[in-house]
Amino acid sequence: MKRRVAVLGATGIVGQRFVSLLGDHPWFELAIVAASEKSIGRKYCEAVRWVIEKPIPSSIADLELSPISNDIAKEEIDIVFTALPAEVAKDIEIELAKKGIIVISNASPMRLEPDIPLLNPEVNADHVEVIEYQRRVRRWSGAIVKVPNCTTAILTLSLKPIMDEFGIKRVIVSTMQALSGAGLTGVPSMLILDNLIPFIEGEEEKVESESRKILGYPTSDGITLNSNFVVSASCHRVMVLEGHTESVFVETVRDVDVEDLIKSMEEFKSNKIRGLGLPTAPEKPIVVRREIDRPQPRFDRMEGRGMSVVIGRIRKDYALNGVKYIVLGHNTLRGAAGTGVLIAELMVKKGLA
Ligand SMILES: NC(=O)c1ccc[n+]([C@@H]2O[C@H](COP(=O)([O-])OP(=O)(O)OC[C@H]3O[C@@H](n4cnc5c(N)ncnc54)[C@H](OP(=O)(O)O)[C@@H]3O)[C@@H](O)[C@H]2O)c1
Repeated sequence: MKRRVAVLGATGIVGQRFVSLLGDHPWFELAIVAASEKSIGRKYCEAVRWVIEKPIPSSIADLELSPISNDIAKEEIDIVFTALPAEVAKDIEIELAKKGIIVISNASPMRLEPDIPLLNPEVNADHVEVIEYQRRVRRWSGAIVKVPNCTTAILTLSLKPIMDEFGIKRVIVSTMQALSGAGLTGVPSMLILDNLIPFIEGEEEKVESESRKILGYPTSDGITLNSNFVVSASCHRVMVLEGHTESVFVETVRDVDVEDLIKSMEEFKSNKIRGLGLPTAPEKPIVVRREIDRPQPRFDRMEGRGMSVVIGRIRKDYALNGVKYIVLGHNTLRGAAGTGVLIAELMVKKGLA
């Protein structure tokens, strides 16, 4: 039986990705789409400014947009995906969890709280177990699970095999982030054409803290941050539509042999979700390119239906005694809605949703 799901913020850029992924999903039926007051009561296809390459799924086009109120009932909906601005998301997510609903959220509030799993499934699917603790301390029967910040989801997937094989002491990352990361009406063209903007509010702090939680440890009191390494990030907006590119420098505990690292990245299947048969999981979460000038957003962002990260220019770093490389990932798929749907699939498979 298909789980019935809702998307809040369905007209935004992440919401549109959710609609596109859920329109014909084998395990989920998208029953409710919700957005702001100006959209309520209108047909989805009339209210949305659709910017996805594939057409609006026919099963969703005529759905009427609902308000994001807490009228959603547990009997009606099993899972709510939220793609709302941070300031709108927090209260509604808590109200829904109290009603027994599973909330999978792209908004940043609560991402660092120890009882809230911050899931990048191939990296830390086991952190989902902390839901039991969350339910106990919050006294609710639903759950809130967070999707990581887009840049961090891409970064931590690339760091996982390095951490497992060589250990990590320090990470320095400089990003070139796509326009879609700022939302549908994000950056005015007058500010970005022929330009780049060397600042994204709050982004560096998110990358620096969330990475240590995603690569941290589940305990009986929630998730403990990984204190074995530190991250320094510098984040920049560039004139690319979709796909965040990150230049990463890693100081490792043990000496890196580049060919050994490439092998472990190419073979990285993630024993965290291997064999679960999750429909949105890419066959290869990490794709390594050996050409000197790849990855590039226009050519590589849709690798693994937008769910793989693509790594290139892997070479030794002698200044940090480690390794440096470029990683690219699709920010609204791997970095947002795609990972949200993957988390929901994981929870269904584990009997949590
Ligand atoms: N874009 C990315 O790459 C990305 C990646 C990771 C996480 N995120 C996070 O995901 C969330 C959504 O981002 P986005 O880029 O999709 O933003 P967006 O394109 O601006 O979309 C915002 C959505 O929220 C709705 N909304 C806005 N204000 C509302 C209100 N007061 N009440 C009800 N609904 C409201 C909008 O509805 P209307 O159309 O009716 O206004 C729209 O559906 C944000 O928290 C963002 O930080 C984004």
